[in-house]
Amino acid sequence: MAKNRTILGCQWGDEGKGKIVDLLAADADIIARFQGGANAGHTIVVGDKKYVLHLIPAGIIHPGKICYVGNGVVLDPFGFKEELDLLTEWGIDYQGRLFVSAAANLVLPYHKLIDAVDEKNRGTSSLGTTKRGIGPAYVDKVARNGIRIADLFAPERLLKRLQYQKNIKNSYFSGSDDPRADIDRTYEELLKLAPLYKSMAVDVSLELYKAGQQNKSILFEGAQGTLLDVDLGTYPFATSSNTTIGGALTGLGISPKALGEIVGVVKAYTTRVGTGPFPTELIDDNGEKLRAIGDEYGATTGRPRRCGWLDLVALKHAIRINGVDSIAITKLDVLDNFEEIDICIAYELDGEKISEVPLDLAQLSIVRPVYQTLSGWNSETTGITKFDKLPENAKKYLNFMTESLNVNLCIVSTGAKRKETILV
Ligand code: GDP
Ligand code: IMO
Ligand code: MG
Repeated sequence: MAKNRTILGCQWGDEGKGKIVDLLAADADIIARFQGGANAGHTIVVGDKKYVLHLIPAGIIHPGKICYVGNGVVLDPFGFKEELDLLTEWGIDYQGRLFVSAAANLVLPYHKLIDAVDEKNRGTSSLGTTKRGIGPAYVDKVARNGIRIADLFAPERLLKRLQYQKNIKNSYFSGSDDPRADIDRTYEELLKLAPLYKSMAVDVSLELYKAGQQNKSILFEGAQGTLLDVDLGTYPFATSSNTTIGGALTGLGISPKALGEIVGVVKAYTTRVGTGPFPTELIDDNGEKLRAIGDEYGATTGRPRRCGWLDLVALKHAIRINGVDSIAITKLDVLDNFEEIDICIAYELDGEKISEVPLDLAQLSIVRPVYQTLSGWNSETTGITKFDKLPENAKKYLNFMTESLNVNLCIVSTGAKRKETILV
């Protein structure tokens, strides 16, 4: 039977999902993205060439692979078009192998405007969103005021639904001369793009079902990470979609039986962009060192990422919720030059040791990490492709992680490039 895989992030995003999806896409016929939007930034490095994708599945880099964007994704039709143009510039032919769900909701210019206004209104409690309009687009979807790809092909319905936005969003638009608030212009521009989307719009759920019947192998690509999940993450400092396993089912209209092996991507330390609790954050020289060596700057916004040690409590939460079968550990090489490496094995809350992520954000904000210190390896792992070749202390670090989490290890990434990988 064909092997399917579901790949998702186990931390706060930017775990290196792009690299892992690209790598495993080699074994798949189809790659399907299930949630999020252009808030994602997935990096793939092949040789000296670096690609960053926001909406298009990372599998597109492999010639001939079929790629789908599911109904769970909020799709910015203008941003998506820009990404298509980038593919052309990179010499990647996507014709006839990239499809979008007719049921995907659109992120329109006014969503970005609202995102910015909401963030401003939140003042000191702002979430640090990517300002890509993600939250407001999901709000419209759930409120049933969204505009979907299929609406592009029915101009009268599109106009009616767009005009209704004027009524419901008056408080955001009134007095604004921001071009993003210009609904009439948005309508005109959408009509121009309609033929392009007509050529790519399909029922993704049905296509994936048919592919399964033909024994095709499918890779399901997640965005963001478990701790950013709108239900199970550090709410309200989260994104607006289900980044966890359920998001794959509803975001593509697939059966749980189709998920296959669930691969959790885990960075060898922790990073987070934007606001919100981060128990193992390092606001010291080690934090700076991780940022500098790991080049921890957002692939979408360029913002510096907050850095800290590995957090096994948060990871245990991610592995339980997603039913992770095996983990792909990335950026091991970034830890090459540390004398000692701490791993958070529990939290301390009001003098008590706890081993689960508290659901009350006020509690999560004051927990103190309990660390176990491991010796570093002080030697280069960059580019190593065999587990046996790793320094003993690096093996100990990895074994400590997998034994504590009770999961298999499937991949160790020792550099950004496709080749810099250990298949375990
Ligand atoms: P994603 O959002 O999960 O796809 O991750 P990002 O692309 O936002 O961030 C991961 C960054 O780490 C990218 O710049 C990758 O090129 C880079 N990267 C991935 N794996 C490794 C690795 O093993 N070592 C190093 N040094 N960089 C890596
Ligand atoms: P990938 O797929 C890291 C964060 C934002 C912010 C919060 C809400 O590359 O891992 P949003 O714009 O979604 O409303 O912002 O979520 N965030 C990410 N952080 N990686 C991402 O995606 C992210 N997508 C959103 O920084 O804190
Ligand atoms: Mg990213």
